[in-house]
Amino acid sequence: MLFTRLAVPLRTLQTLSKTHRWHHTSLTNELIENMDKKATWDRFYTENGSKGQFKHFEWFFGFHSVKDFILPVLQTMSHSQIGPLNILDMGCGTSALGPCIYRTSPCAVKITCADISSVAVKLMQKHADSTAVEPCNPSSALAFLELDCTQLRGYFGLRSLDLILDKGTTDALVRSKDGQVKAGEIVRQCLQVLRPSGSLLQFSDEDPDARLVWLEREVRGAEPAADVGVQEVGELRGVSYFCYQISARTSEKIA
Ligand SMILES: C[S@@+](CC[C@H](N)C(=O)[O-])C[C@H]1O[C@@H](n2cnc3c(N)ncnc32)[C@H](O)[C@@H]1O
Repeated sequence: MLFTRLAVPLRTLQTLSKTHRWHHTSLTNELIENMDKKATWDRFYTENGSKGQFKHFEWFFGFHSVKDFILPVLQTMSHSQIGPLNILDMGCGTSALGPCIYRTSPCAVKITCADISSVAVKLMQKHADSTAVEPCNPSSALAFLELDCTQLRGYFGLRSLDLILDKGTTDALVRSKDGQVKAGEIVRQCLQVLRPSGSLLQFSDEDPDARLVWLEREVRGAEPAADVGVQEVGELRGVSYFCYQISARTSEKIA
């Protein structure tokens, strides 16, 4: 029950808490404050996964709502690259985002779905093994990885990824007690592991007046220097969602 309540956009949850319409317990509060912690998410996915047959859980919305932000970018990137595009779904949880890209992208992709929660990663791996999804492009690959994304640089090489996707992960971090610093560190590491032509896309319910200011502050002085942009994804149940794009500054890009 507790976790069903958490499965709503974070901003909605916080607004409800503030206005006392949400009869939250101190334990719920503790969970909201600890969304940067592995134990919180292991518990979340254990509870979610114990409801019988595996079902993907989507924070905000699923692949269908964001595919037009992702597939055209991949198509453009594929023109200037030999071999599969390297994609990371950062904080994948048990979302179908990575598997859907694998199934529908006409250009070859190598997708890594990574999460700090070993429970989520095991559920995803088990489901993929049992369903044997066919890729749209025979050269595509799909992998699952337990990884704390504050350690991205230790796992991925410099300039090795083409696209990093973040659906709700930064949102969870910036709103938890100790997560802001981690979220900023993750953005800077993303810039290092992205190729000069690559991008980080953050799907979020945070308004541009707050997220853009935060992002611009976090990437100031970063190496490589970065540009930040935003597009509206749309409205769902009265909440507006955005896609923030962070990429190496054009002048920094290597031909
Ligand atoms: C709000 S959920 C979003 C899950 C998924 N992207 C979706 O759209 O349903 C945030 C996810 O970030 C993961 N997470 C939190 N901190 C992380 C970290 N440091 N490294 C990797 N994953 C992390 C959590 O385990 C959780 O699955």
